[in-house]
Amino acid sequence: MLSTQNNQLLMQTNAGTPMGHVMRRYWMPALLAWELPGPDCPPVRVRLLGENLVAFRDSSGRIGLVQASCPHRRASLFWGRNEEDGIRCVYHGWKFNVEGRCTDMPSEPETSNFKDKVSITAYPTEEQGGIIRAYMGPADRRPAPPLFEWTQVTAQHRSVNKVFQESNWLQGLEGGVDSIHVSYLHNNKMQDLNTFTNRVTNALIEVTPTDYGYTYGSVRKLSAEEGNFVKAYHYVMPFTQLRPDAQGKDAMVSGHMWVPVDDEHCMVYNWVYTLGQEPLDEESIYKHGDLAYEIVDVNNGFKSSWNYDNDYGIDREVQRATTYTGIPCDPRVGANLQDRAIQESMGAQCDRENEHLGTSDRAIIMARRMLLQAATTVADGGDPPGVGSSYYKVRSIEYVLPADAQWHEHLAPELFEGAGHTPVLA
Ligand code: FES
Ligand SMILES: [Fe+2]
Repeated sequence: MLSTQNNQLLMQTNAGTPMGHVMRRYWMPALLAWELPGPDCPPVRVRLLGENLVAFRDSSGRIGLVQASCPHRRASLFWGRNEEDGIRCVYHGWKFNVEGRCTDMPSEPETSNFKDKVSITAYPTEEQGGIIRAYMGPADRRPAPPLFEWTQVTAQHRSVNKVFQESNWLQGLEGGVDSIHVSYLHNNKMQDLNTFTNRVTNALIEVTPTDYGYTYGSVRKLSAEEGNFVKAYHYVMPFTQLRPDAQGKDAMVSGHMWVPVDDEHCMVYNWVYTLGQEPLDEESIYKHGDLAYEIVDVNNGFKSSWNYDNDYGIDREVQRATTYTGIPCDPRVGANLQDRAIQESMGAQCDRENEHLGTSDRAIIMARRMLLQAATTVADGGDPPGVGSSYYKVRSIEYVLPADAQWHEHLAPELFEGAGHTPVLA
C-alpha cells in the first residue's frame, strides 16, 4: 500500500508539483514524428504534463512546441496559420516563431515596439527514432539526448506507435514492470501448456537498482533438469520499460513509455526493434500495433475505438473456452488492449491505500521507491537517475538457464553492454 499523500505525489505531474519537477528533468515524448510531416504542415495539439501545447514545423523544417494560448487574448494557436517561419494566431494576426518570440503584430501601429515585449513558452525538442521529444525543465539541467538503442536503428528495423489511455501514467508503468500478469492477463491460449508463462504461473521477481532505474528478472522454475525460464527487463526512469521479445538470430526488443498527458490520462508509446540484419517484417510490425491504427483514431487524439463504452470488445464465450480475458489480442491490437482495459478499470487514479502487494510486486514497489526518492533529490537540487547516457546500450532478453545459474551475472554482457548482436544502425 501507499499513503494517500505519497500516491498523490507520484501521480500529479502538473507544473509546480514534486513529480512535475522530476518529469521536467527528462526528455518527454510529445508526438510521433510523422504527425509533423514537413515544413509549414498543419499544427498539432499536444497535451503534456497538464500543459496545452501546439506543435508545428516552420518553413525551414524546425520544430516548434509552444504554449497553445495566444498571449494576446488567449485564443488557441492550434487554429493558427503556419506560414513563413512562424505560427500566426487567426484572431488578430500575432505571429510567433519556434523560439516563442513574437515576430509580427499587425494589429498594432507600425511604430509600436509592443511585439518585442511579448513572447510565449517554447520548449526545445529532439527528434529521435520516429519520436519528437520536448525538454520542459530548467535550461541548465538539460539531460543527455535520449539515445535508446531502438532510436538508433534504421526506420525499417523499428516500429513505434501510440494510443491514448484514460488513466494516470503510474498504473500504466506499474502494469509494464509487472512481469507475472503475462501468465494471466495475456494467456491467450489456455490449453497450451508448452508456453513457459502458461505452465509456470508464479515467478521469483529479482530487482537490481542501476543508475538509470533498475534491471529486473522474473525467474520461473521449470524443473530441475530443464532449469529456469528467465525474463530480464529494464526500467529506465521515469516511465520507460524494455522487455524481451523474439530471441535468436533475429532477436527483438520491445517496450513502452507511459507519458503523463495530465493527472487522469496518459499516452502509451509502444515500440519494437530488431537486432537482426533483416528489416522488421510485417507480422512483427502488425503484432506490435503499428497497424493498430485500424482501431486507433489518429484524427481524434489517438483514442481507441475499443474502449470502456463497448467493454473493450470482450467475448465471454472466448473467455470461457480460449483466452483468460476474452478481450481480443489479435494482430490488430497486440496485448495492449488487454493492458489498457485492466489499467483503466483501476480508476483514472488508482487508490493505492487499499491495495495488498505481494512478492510478485517487487518491481512495482522499487519503482515507487525510486520515484519518491527522485522527488526528494530534485527538490534538494540534485539530479534524478537516468538523465545521463548509461542506458544507451541496455537490452532485454529471455533465456532458459541452468537452475543454479545467477541470471544477472550470466546475462550481464547482453543486458548492459549490447553484446551478442550488432543491429543495423541508421
Ligand atoms: S488572441 Fe491571438 S492575436 Fe489576438
Ligand atoms: Fe501487459
